[in-house]
Amino acid sequence: MTSAVTVQRLRREFKLRGRGGHDRKTLVALADVDLDIHQRELFGLLGPNGAGKTTLIKILCTLLLPTSGTAEVDGIDVVTESHRVRERINMVSGGEHSGYGILTLREHLWLFSQLYGIPTSVARERIEDMLGVLGLKEAADEKISTLSTGMRQKMNLIRGFVCDPKILFLDEPTLGLDVQVAREVRTIVRDWLARSPEKTTLLTTHYMAEAEALCDRVAIIDNGRVIACDSPENLKQLLNHEEVYHVETDLVLEPERSLPGRGRPAAVRCRAQVELRHHPVPGHHGSGRRGRRRDCAPGVSGQTGAHRHADGAVAGRRVPPPGRAETGR
Ligand SMILES: Nc1ncnc2c1ncn2[C@@H]1O[C@H](COP(=O)(O)OP(=O)(O)OP(=O)(O)O)[C@@H](O)[C@H]1O
Ligand SMILES: [Mg+2]
Repeated sequence: MTSAVTVQRLRREFKLRGRGGHDRKTLVALADVDLDIHQRELFGLLGPNGAGKTTLIKILCTLLLPTSGTAEVDGIDVVTESHRVRERINMVSGGEHSGYGILTLREHLWLFSQLYGIPTSVARERIEDMLGVLGLKEAADEKISTLSTGMRQKMNLIRGFVCDPKILFLDEPTLGLDVQVAREVRTIVRDWLARSPEKTTLLTTHYMAEAEALCDRVAIIDNGRVIACDSPENLKQLLNHEEVYHVETDLVLEPERSLPGRGRPAAVRCRAQVELRHHPVPGHHGSGRRGRRRDCAPGVSGQTGAHRHADGAVAGRRVPPPGRAETGR
């Protein structure tokens, strides 16, 4: 099978300065990662915050140099022949504030198509086609600064598709989107791949459900190391046991109005606990790009990193079900 991306013992370190510029510490963002992504594959990189996903994508997109090791995209070395790599790729990140606010949506896409050197007639046709497919025709003459986050992300996807990249990098493309728009974005990615099955996509996410809904294979990355790599269904089989998450949150209920003559009553603080039980169904198989598809909204039980904090307010803690020892993953 031909490789679209080959990564061998890839390492990236960051030097962190201590006080006064002294005590330089070394942070290892990628620790000798090996990865092989096949052509025509939709490959997922799943991991919690700080796992090294963006660092890997940036190296593959020639935006960052590795400390050691090698990486090839379409058989081309990302360090020594970066310009040839750039001709073949595009990248879209979630939560991107891309775009020049004074341009309209259509002008913005046109600008990027010209930066990629796409012939005028081809670019016009592609942009109009994708504006239609993504339901952005009516907003095409609106200034970018007036677009909603979801519309901007759809615009970013068009920018990603417009140069017809051989390999597309999507770094958390549904970050910050509501459930409905996130689902639309996943559908857009799948439709684009269905129309262009020769393409390869590397997608990062921290939602297992998103990886399962979209990807043919998934690598789980944590602390800069790839700890598992397989199809979503095989990875789920590995975790085929009951998991219970306890989510605790502080709720502060602010009174809406003051009572006449009594001033504003104090805010009420209370603690809420929710128990989520996750029972993977034995024998159930998720669906990859070329198999049956299932669209899933992200959910707490589907996220990696049970200890991640949502908006700084919610702390998730995985506890063993009664009668079982905690696995401590
Ligand atoms: N420019 C930088 N300087 C110093 N440290 C960095 C830099 N960029 C990334 N890091 C560190 O490298 C590690 C990996 O970061 P990276 O952004 O790749 O993680 P990630 O998996 O993309 O996380 P997230 O899900 O939050 O986007 C983190 O510890 C991060 O703090
Ligand atoms: Mg990231």
